[in-house]
This record gives sequence, structure tokens and C-alpha cells, in this order.
Amino acid sequence: MSIQLPPEAYGELTQGISRILYTAEQIEQRVHEIGREISRDYEGCRPLFIGVLKGVFPFMADLLRAVTIPVEVDFMAIANYTAVARGQGFVRVQKDLDEPITNRHILFVEDVIDTGLTLNYLLNLLKARNPATLKVCTLFDKPERRLIRIPIRYRGFDLPDRFVVGYGLDYREMYRNLPFVGLLKPEVFRPSAP
Ligand code: IMP
Ligand code: MG
Repeated sequence: MSIQLPPEAYGELTQGISRILYTAEQIEQRVHEIGREISRDYEGCRPLFIGVLKGVFPFMADLLRAVTIPVEVDFMAIANYTAVARGQGFVRVQKDLDEPITNRHILFVEDVIDTGLTLNYLLNLLKARNPATLKVCTLFDKPERRLIRIPIRYRGFDLPDRFVVGYGLDYREMYRNLPFVGLLKPEVFRPSAP
């Protein structure tokens, strides 16, 4: 289903990776398992999958095609927040949903849940619109970093408290196109740099 070139094919990008945590094959297999589960759980519900751009796009694309029941999809975009606003979980919505979600079965699809502050803010926003149900599906979870409790219905993999890239996750907008997820070499990753 997904394009699976070997890591060496991504020459310069792969050279910035110190360790692959999840291979393209592992991700594909897990996405299929989650897709089967969702197809079973939402039979007859015509769920609406909602994702936040941009990191979620490869997962959303693969997950959608692993789901075998009728399903709709929509995206939101949020502004890059400052460190202060981020610490308070404040988010500015740049692109809202196209349609109302009242009485809909909503599955919020995430690439990674870190502190959970962003997601918590967005879930509260959506809850106020009275969906029939609102559940969360995340491919990656960093449980050690969580600052706020978020119920997760579907979870792909746990991640350590490290910065990872690939499969949609970026470092300064790069590495999203890697089909695997890995740790950046320390000489590449400089958290304090502007
Ligand atoms: P939080 O849960 O509000 O802290 O923010 C989660 C968001 O931070 C994710 O949707 C990603 O955009 C970003 N993020 C968190 N951890 C990583 C990572 O390891 N690599 C790349 N982006 C990350
Ligand atoms: Mg995200």
C-alpha cells in the first residue's frame, strides 16, 4: 500500500538518523491492525476522522485505506504557537472543519501525543459542538511526557521521551517523507537553536 523504499534510498536524510525505532513494515502492520479494529467498532456509524495538519497526513492516508467501512475525513490547521502559549496549551485554529459535527461519531486521529496540551484544547473545542461520540486514535504515544490525562481509544506504539522524525513527523519541516520513524543524531537536533 505505502511506498517502501529501503532507508539507504533516503541518503542524506537517513544519515541524520541515529537509530530507527519503527520500520516502515512495522508501521504498516500496526496501521492495518488499528484499521481492522476501527472498522469493527464503527460498523454502521459512518465516522468522521479528524486530523490536524501537517504531521498526521501519512498516518491518516494509510489508516483511511486500512478502514473498510464508509468513513469521512476532515482536517484542521493550527498556528505555530510560542513556547509560552504552548505551555498553557493555547492553540489558535487557522483552518476549522468544513462541516458541523453535531451528532456525528468523531475519531480524532493524531500522529503523536506528547504533553497532550494541544489535543486537550482541541478536544474541548470539538466537545462543545456536541458530537455523538468523540474518541482518540494516535499512532505514537509519549506517555512519560503527558501533562494532562487524555483517554486514548486506539494507540499504535509507545515512544520514549526523545525527539523522533519520519512518517509525517518533522524537525524544522524536514524528514516527514521518511517511511520509518527514528531518532535524530544529536549533531542534527539542536533544541535550543532558533
Ligand atoms: P503536545 O501533545 O501538545 O505536546 O504536542 C504534540 C505535537 O508536538 C505533535 O502533534 C507534534 O506536532 C509535535 N511533536 C511532539 N513530539 C514530537 C517528536 O518527537 N517529533 C516531531 N514532532 C513532535
Ligand atoms: Mg500533530
